[in-house]
Amino acid sequence: MKLSSQQQEVRRLLKERRAILLAHNYQPGEIQDIADFLGDSLALSMTAAETAAEVIVFCGVHFMAETAAILCPEKTVLLPRLDLGCCLAESVTTAKLLARKAELPGVPVVTYVNSTAAVKAESDVCCTSANAIRVVNSLAAPRVLMVPDQNLARYAARHTAKEIEILTWEGWCNVHDGLSPEEVLECKAAHPQALFLAHPECNPEVLDLADEIRSTSGMLKYVLESPEKEFIIGTEKGIIHRLRQENPGKLFYSPSKRLICRPMKRITLTDVIKALQENRHQITVPEEIRVRALKAVERMLAVPRD
Ligand code: 13P
Ligand code: SF4
Repeated sequence: MKLSSQQQEVRRLLKERRAILLAHNYQPGEIQDIADFLGDSLALSMTAAETAAEVIVFCGVHFMAETAAILCPEKTVLLPRLDLGCCLAESVTTAKLLARKAELPGVPVVTYVNSTAAVKAESDVCCTSANAIRVVNSLAAPRVLMVPDQNLARYAARHTAKEIEILTWEGWCNVHDGLSPEEVLECKAAHPQALFLAHPECNPEVLDLADEIRSTSGMLKYVLESPEKEFIIGTEKGIIHRLRQENPGKLFYSPSKRLICRPMKRITLTDVIKALQENRHQITVPEEIRVRALKAVERMLAVPRD
């Protein structure tokens, strides 16, 4: 692939600074194309934990870079912009979580990685969309509180093999939750051969229409291995860039024009160049919070993979 001059400059600076560029599957195509590693939240955290690079440039939203800072305090974690919030992560604060915990003594808290470090620090274990069911299955308690995504919690409650009550939090991703069953049905009617893949952040009515429910990396793997040729993609549109590159003979449809995560799309190549030149914006987590958040993230990483 021929790189633009800005893309070449990013690659040159990454080499000069012995840095690695991690990008989430929703990033703009021009950033995906020069990433050292492209993945979902779980794979990005694991790569950040394992890399030998001194500097990590994180192209994703704020909580993702913060997770890297929790795992690698000795490394420099750079987020190219600071205005990269996630509405789901913002739906839970430590004050609100502590108040809820006080009402539920002894009930473990399972926190989606789409949350701040301070909220993770008040949690027992983290999960991502790729391992939520496995994390719930690993717990011995009869009742857990899952924060902040009510859709992920309902999905886990429906698919866990355990007798476990999952209490939900009033939080959701506006992008995924906004997808309606009507939009999916319309897209299915227009493309009757297509399989519908949905992210667990979608609402239960949409998940009921799904042929497969997967994290972003789960979707990528599923499509690569599937003999089917057409897919309706029930998650943020950015992932379709990589799906098309990896599967040139297959067709992909987005069921809604609104499946766009604005913060994910704000990062430009100019931002990445400035991040590397000016060492900005360094993401750090106060040590007292970091060590407690790390425990919750490490408990998640210790849950065996399938
Ligand atoms: P994944 O972990 O599946 O990549 O999802 C992250 C996310 O923010 C989904 O909206
Ligand atoms: Fe957050 Fe939703 Fe964007 Fe994912 S798609 S980063 S959950 S706002």
